[in-house]
Amino acid sequence: MLLPAGQCSSSVLQLLRRSGLGLGHCQHGKLPGCLPVRLRRSPRCLSGGTGPRPCASFPRGPGDLGGGSGAWGKDEEPLDASVPPQGDDAPWSQPSLGAQTARSFSSLEKPTRIFPEEMQPPEIEYVATGHEECSDESEAASPPPLRTPALCCEAQPAPAKELPAHSVGSSPRELPFQPGDLLYAEFQKGENIFKRLFKLEAAGQLSSNWGAIPYKEMIGKLPGQLLRSSIGHHFMLRRPALEEFVLLMKRGPTISYPKDMNMMLMMMNVKQGDVILDVGSGSGGMSLFLSQAVGSQGRVKSFEIRKDHHNQAKKNYKCWRDAWKISHVEEWPDNVDFIHKDILKAAEDIESITFDGVALDMLNPQIALPIVYPNLKQGGICAVYLANITQVIELLEGIRICKLSLSCEQIREVLLRDWLVCPAKRKDGTLAQRVEPKTSMDLKLYSQRDFETEENENVQENDYGESLSGFPYSSIPYIARPFHCQANHTAFLVKLRKFNPEH
Ligand SMILES: C[S@@+](CC[C@H](N)C(=O)[O-])C[C@H]1O[C@@H](n2cnc3c(N)ncnc32)[C@H](O)[C@@H]1O
Repeated sequence: MLLPAGQCSSSVLQLLRRSGLGLGHCQHGKLPGCLPVRLRRSPRCLSGGTGPRPCASFPRGPGDLGGGSGAWGKDEEPLDASVPPQGDDAPWSQPSLGAQTARSFSSLEKPTRIFPEEMQPPEIEYVATGHEECSDESEAASPPPLRTPALCCEAQPAPAKELPAHSVGSSPRELPFQPGDLLYAEFQKGENIFKRLFKLEAAGQLSSNWGAIPYKEMIGKLPGQLLRSSIGHHFMLRRPALEEFVLLMKRGPTISYPKDMNMMLMMMNVKQGDVILDVGSGSGGMSLFLSQAVGSQGRVKSFEIRKDHHNQAKKNYKCWRDAWKISHVEEWPDNVDFIHKDILKAAEDIESITFDGVALDMLNPQIALPIVYPNLKQGGICAVYLANITQVIELLEGIRICKLSLSCEQIREVLLRDWLVCPAKRKDGTLAQRVEPKTSMDLKLYSQRDFETEENENVQENDYGESLSGFPYSSIPYIARPFHCQANHTAFLVKLRKFNPEH
């Protein structure tokens, strides 16, 4: 069905007037967004219509199940704490238990960094500042008493060796630490994690309640360096991954959580060279991920209605690129255009562009859809980030009312569960002991025993799998359980595909 532009406008005005798009107005017994009707209209069929709700947004995180009202500005202060993700399996060590040693061996031991703010443990530090530059190191907040006794690390910290830039492991692209570098220090005891993003200076030190480390000890080291603090704790020094930077950078509004951003990238199937529309820029989190995904051949157009958010997004982007420049041979692409403009008034700005994908993270994205729709390529995906399921319904209802040829392919929630795997301890903090099997021969005999297959061939079990015989017996029992504190709901991600209806 073809609709004249006027009809489209009136539908959209109806939609806008509802301001929240109550379902009670649904007139068709059809699934919103699933039975689209062809629309023909000018990209600006809404111009002059009801304006957007500037600066408005929706709450996020568990318990944020309100009607989606409220301004970004007021209630979205930068985080005081954040729990960024882990990217390595480095052993976390605490040397005070003497001979009774055990290895914290898995990255599973590290808790999620995807917690909403209110769930984040207070001992996780957020150090980003409001300066133009990236965060400087600042005084650690008093950590709460540690709940779990310290573990020891079998391996002693590797002696710090300074390597020339050209000999950096298998990749010569990452350089040793130098003044101006954006670094990330991490120290973990059980479920308690200390994390800090700071700028390395020529002089000074990283100070914390777990001791200090002079900057000069860090200069020249390579990422993944364990350094001992003044009171004997071992800090892992490295550069933040993009995910960690985004979680710890200074925020305007709440960012989309990396787990959700990654899913949105997947939904849009973003590739190198793609041109993507990002609304709104917010703190610049999604823009950074998109920048990485489209690469130097691609482009990201990022619209933001609020000046303060627009500035913050630009600062964060610059901060990341500057830090990258210091630490890498190849530059981070300068491929994001941050545009301070209401997307509802941006039809002309995007008129000549065909987008491979559109990421919408704003309140009432349904009102932006008629603007961005004409510029999304046929078959392209618009991925929408929404906090509440009621907003998802409003989105789909908006698509139906505006008769946009967008089919809803997925409505997804990304759930993560992090686990703790560590040596079991007694109440007094000493490590428990596992009882060794009577003889290691028992194991050996069992594992090497011949057995008959259905075909009556004699086969040695060893032919199919590794025997445990000869493997060193560990007397330490491990526990494995989910972390106490888990991320709960963050968002619903809606995948909308533009299609060309049958004529
Ligand atoms: C949740 S934030 C986006 C966060 C961002 N994805 C990130 O990862 O940092 C939503 C942003 O959309 C902006 N916004 C809301 N309505 C808008 C509109 N009509 N045009 C452009 N931006 C808008 C808000 O000001 C806010 O900064």
